[in-house]
Amino acid sequence: MDRIKIVGGGPLRGTIPISGAKNAALPLMIASLLTGDRLTLKNVPNLADVNLLGRILRNHGVDLAVDGKRTGPNLQGETFHLTARDIVDTTAPYEMVARMRASFWILGPLITRMRQARVSLPGGCAIGTRPVDLHLMGLKALGAEIDIDAGYVVARAPRGLHGAHIIFPKVSVGATHNVLLAAALAKGETLLENAAREPEVGDVAHCLVKMGVLIEGIGTSTLRIQGRDQLDGAIHTVLPDRIETGTFAMAVAATGGDVVLEGTRRDLLATALDVLEQSGTKVSDTETGLRIAPNGGGIVPVSVETQPFPGFPTDLQAQLMALVAKADGTSVIRETIFENRFMHVQELARLGADIHLHGDTATIKGVKHLRGAPVMATDLRASVSLVIAGLSAEGETIINRVYHLDRGFERIEQKLSQCGAQIERLVTA
Ligand code: EPZ
Repeated sequence: MDRIKIVGGGPLRGTIPISGAKNAALPLMIASLLTGDRLTLKNVPNLADVNLLGRILRNHGVDLAVDGKRTGPNLQGETFHLTARDIVDTTAPYEMVARMRASFWILGPLITRMRQARVSLPGGCAIGTRPVDLHLMGLKALGAEIDIDAGYVVARAPRGLHGAHIIFPKVSVGATHNVLLAAALAKGETLLENAAREPEVGDVAHCLVKMGVLIEGIGTSTLRIQGRDQLDGAIHTVLPDRIETGTFAMAVAATGGDVVLEGTRRDLLATALDVLEQSGTKVSDTETGLRIAPNGGGIVPVSVETQPFPGFPTDLQAQLMALVAKADGTSVIRETIFENRFMHVQELARLGADIHLHGDTATIKGVKHLRGAPVMATDLRASVSLVIAGLSAEGETIINRVYHLDRGFERIEQKLSQCGAQIERLVTA
């Protein structure tokens, strides 16, 4: 298993290109199941999760061709051409869905187009129990008959799906995607209330509009969707990855560096950038992205709780903790989205961080120095928090199990070493 070695202590300086968003690319690829025409997606990041979903979609009969293999230093995204002329299989097996939870989102498109689907329940995962009741509630309201059989969701809609008024009792990104995709081919109007407002949901909605669906309220928590009998192909560019943006911004802040993040936008993560500014970092807009630089006052402690968009994202909680581990005072971070998303705490402690956990709240007493150590990556965002801590620690940090990082960060060691970081992948034969 590959490992990453970091020798920390130096500031990051230079430019980092931001990739297309993983969490938009995945549902956009799934949207290809809704039409027999070609869906072209530009700026797709080259990630393990994207490649796995490509294999899953191919099993269902989607033809996937990839242009623009990247070899140069500019890290342009790839272009995917997806055509689901004939869907040859409506079963998504456990072996696939268990490896990547977002693949459960093919349920809505399969039922709405094929009128039947058999998709494995995703099961729990490292960051929490992650139920799918809201997905099923929404799809049932659209007319799907759903049974659970031997760990599978077995769904039928012999006469197709129809529009409905659905009020989600809780904000869920995945349930919003699943129901939005299903409603695109349902008969009549669907009104979704308390829908997730994450920019990736908006990106999928914009793509569906290009495919011929009428959607009002994009970017708000109320979506009004007029389903169509058939959808067209489209060309769509995946929006920039706000979590990658925030992660690199925090890495720059943690090392006292000065970096331009190219190809990204403030509005995608305004709350997180506000928190970063409160913690002592200057964030300025450039023509092509964002410049992250210290404001000269060191790292200031913060008090934050994770919330659905537009609040502070749970996907940046671990990275913020790595940053404030060296703050001049005590920070408090409360995780309200997932019940078990603190696995990085013990690993950060190995580098010398002083963190006390009580229920859903972490209290982080800033220390003057972190010191490198061997650590273990546990999930995607937890592992990148160890990269941030390793960069700001003195000495050598070895991160084990880096396959977690490869799921969501494209060429992270290359992007960071371009900015002067001493980071390398130790490949195990
Ligand atoms: C998406 O997961 C993201 N994944 C996650 O990013 C992200 O952390 C999460 O949204 C929250 O922003 C992708 O986009 C691929 P949810 P999702 O449904 O859709 C509860 C990463 O690191 N819930 O919004 O699975 C759930 O347990 C990943 O890139 C129900 O109770 O998250 C959680 O407490 C990790 N019933 C809350 O809602 C349901 O039916 C939010 O989950 C569904 C969810």
